[in-house]
Amino acid sequence: MSDSYDLLVIGGGTAGYPAAIRASQLGMRVACIERQPTLGGTCLNVGCIPSKALLHSTELFAEVSKGLEEHGIGIGGVALNLCQLIGRKDEVVAGLTKGVEHLLNKNKIEWVKGSAYFEAPDRLAVELIEGGTRTLTAKKGILVATGSDVTRLPGIEIDERRIISNTGALSLEKVPEHLVVIGAGYIGLELGCVWRRLGANVTVVEFLDGIVPSMDREIARHLLKLLKQQGLEFRFSTKVTAVEKRADDLLVSLEPAEGGESETLVADVVLVAVGRRPYTEGLGLERVGITLDEKGRIPVSAGFKTAVPGIYAIGDVIAGPMLAHKTTLDGVRCVEGISGRYAGVDYNTVPAVIYTSPEVASVGKTEEELKAAGVEYKAGSFPFAANSRARCNGDTRGLTKLLADAKTDRLLGAHIIGPDAGTMIHEAVLAMEYGGASEDLALTTHAHPTLPESLKEAALVLLGQGMHI
Ligand code: FAD
Ligand code: NAI
Repeated sequence: MSDSYDLLVIGGGTAGYPAAIRASQLGMRVACIERQPTLGGTCLNVGCIPSKALLHSTELFAEVSKGLEEHGIGIGGVALNLCQLIGRKDEVVAGLTKGVEHLLNKNKIEWVKGSAYFEAPDRLAVELIEGGTRTLTAKKGILVATGSDVTRLPGIEIDERRIISNTGALSLEKVPEHLVVIGAGYIGLELGCVWRRLGANVTVVEFLDGIVPSMDREIARHLLKLLKQQGLEFRFSTKVTAVEKRADDLLVSLEPAEGGESETLVADVVLVAVGRRPYTEGLGLERVGITLDEKGRIPVSAGFKTAVPGIYAIGDVIAGPMLAHKTTLDGVRCVEGISGRYAGVDYNTVPAVIYTSPEVASVGKTEEELKAAGVEYKAGSFPFAANSRARCNGDTRGLTKLLADAKTDRLLGAHIIGPDAGTMIHEAVLAMEYGGASEDLALTTHAHPTLPESLKEAALVLLGQGMHI
């Protein structure tokens, strides 16, 4: 006996649950299969949300520890209660994951608690958490939204206690004396900062010769300088070849990326943050005729269609940036496509934010990408040191940089490093969504004194009309 639905969604993460909600809004009978005890996937449980809760708490701690004398505010002794700090993060996560469950209920979406695998292109078997198996069939389609998992390094086994992934790094019971982070990407930098702010010595070992390869290099250089000022140490063009577990510490072996003489670091915790890989284990994709690409992703064509009619894939399990808001975009568009609406996506206008202090936010192309593509462009930058609000706030780190087509002035990219960059980038995102030009930003009146004035000023610089610089 099988239960029949219009749509089945495998995975209750930021790709899957919004897809399920949109499908329900469009009149479909939907079930979402998720095997974890809470909904929300990586982002809500061990990703975006817990990391941002910790980043916020530790930023407050760092700020207060540094003192506010400059503002004429005296503070007594600052004490850290790590248990409370982690507990608060857990409460934030619990509140939001419960919220997703409420949303599914409200939209009459059934949460089938278990692990799904394909029996046929329109049929899933679900091994239920409570025991037993259910068979579910779909009339309109099955969405694979199974996300991603940590990329592991051969011979370095993650135990989530001393050798950790993002999951362990969100719940350490004490501040490490020396944390070695493998990988200077999003996770390495954000979670490296969390523990640095709480007093750990942090060494980041990166295979390449700089941080976050996808970032505009001028911005990356700025961020690196600021992170070094915050006490993070970096070893570039270096690889970790082994981590030996000893009774009281870990012996981390390093080697130049190109090979050469090795050396060792002594650490008490090692964070493996060398990227994430699409997760499709146990789905039985081969049974229905879906072959993965060379990076383990599910290939899709327009409308998120896999090679098998009726099976769709969205989120981290397909190509594109591994960002929560991109996965939601996929989910919603995919379902709209299934119901006969527009299913197109433009990943070029998907913003990316790294929540370090200061934040780094970007949208569109980097200067390096434009050069490589042979595009003629103009650039305009404006430093926060010249922004009056940044001066009032006493945080003048960073700059805003805009890139526009040399002939048409159409915005091609925006890159901000500075206070609240992650909030400010949306002005450029909106402008780019509407095909806007740098002149549009320059002509838009911005309230004074505000940080977003830096976008208008960068646009003026780009047009050769810089006013406050
Ligand atoms: P997932 O969230 O991984 O969800 C997939 C779900 O499918 C999982 O819950 C899994 O249990 C379930 N599943 C898998 N197989 C089966 C099966 N066979 N049966 C049933 N269920 C199954 N992105 C941002 O935009 N901003 C951030 O600040 C940010 N911070 C991050 C911080 C960290 C530490 C990490 C690791 C990631 C962060 N990301 C961030 C990335 C973001 O979390 C991911 O892009 C997003 O969660 C992917 O969503 P998804 O729905 O595709 O997959
Ligand atoms: P990443 O791809 O951002 O960075 C991995 C880094 O590790 C790269 O710089 C890479 O060169 C380096 N590396 C790879 N192999 C290595 C090796 N053997 N030794 C040393 N360095 C090595 O991956 P990360 O940080 O694991 O994050 C995964 C993804 O999760 C991100 O790409 C992003 O999509 C998402 N994420 C997003 C966040 C946000 O939006 N703020 C925060 C955290 C994660």
